Amino acid sequence: MLDESRSPGRGRFITLEGGEGVGKSTNLGFVCEFLARRGVEVVRTREPGGTPRAEAIRRLLLDPAEEEPLSDDAELLLIFAARAQHLERLVRPALARGAWVVCDRFTDATFAYQGGGRGIDNDAIATLETLVQRGLQPDLTLLLDMPVEAAQRRVSERGNERDRFEQERADFFTAVRNVYLRRASSQPERFAIIDAAQSLEDVQQAIEACLQDWWGGMT
Ligand SMILES: Nc1ncnc2c1ncn2[C@@H]1O[C@H](COP(=O)(O)OP(=O)(O)O)[C@@H](O)[C@H]1O
Ligand SMILES: [Mg+2]
Repeated sequence: MLDESRSPGRGRFITLEGGEGVGKSTNLGFVCEFLARRGVEVVRTREPGGTPRAEAIRRLLLDPAEEEPLSDDAELLLIFAARAQHLERLVRPALARGAWVVCDRFTDATFAYQGGGRGIDNDAIATLETLVQRGLQPDLTLLLDMPVEAAQRRVSERGNERDRFEQERADFFTAVRNVYLRRASSQPERFAIIDAAQSLEDVQQAIEACLQDWWGGMT
């Protein structure tokens, strides 16, 4: 298999991960600004979603519609359908022209939510990952980590109506957090764990230190 991640001139792929309310969306712009200041083209995106069709799949996934519960397998396949579309239409072309892609959630979230939270077999997820990503992996993943209860308080304070995932219970999010932490410790070269319970200022200082370090090693 051609390892496209090693092509010269290719951009880099950075993902932000963590449970609900840890501050991914809040800090996405901060990461993008750090990179833009260094003169690279930055593409800011999210999963599930990122293109019009993939965003339509996102709406299906997040809709609480209780009259027809979504099956766990349908959820998993929709997530990878959205991912396939997003990679094909947005992420791969951006990386190929040298842009840096910053994405709010990616496949680590699938292992955490559908694997840890829903209990879907890891091998099934890994099979779909291979099919859809063909070796493409994030170059850097910032895992925003904090205790579940405090993150849930932030979700409550954020005030919007809760989507299908945000309505899950604490044990679901504890399982999600544990999978994220396990993946981070098993792939330390890709992951940086950020203590997300700190003030926003301190979180951003930690993110900046990590990016600076990483940028230094990259350029
Ligand atoms: N470090 C922080 N300290 C306090 N509140 C925060 C911090 N980071 C984010 N928030 C707030 O917490 C809520 C959830 O943040 P958000 O970025 O939406 O989380 P996520 O995208 O990870 O679910 C928002 O209302 C946001 O303003
Ligand atoms: Mg968010």
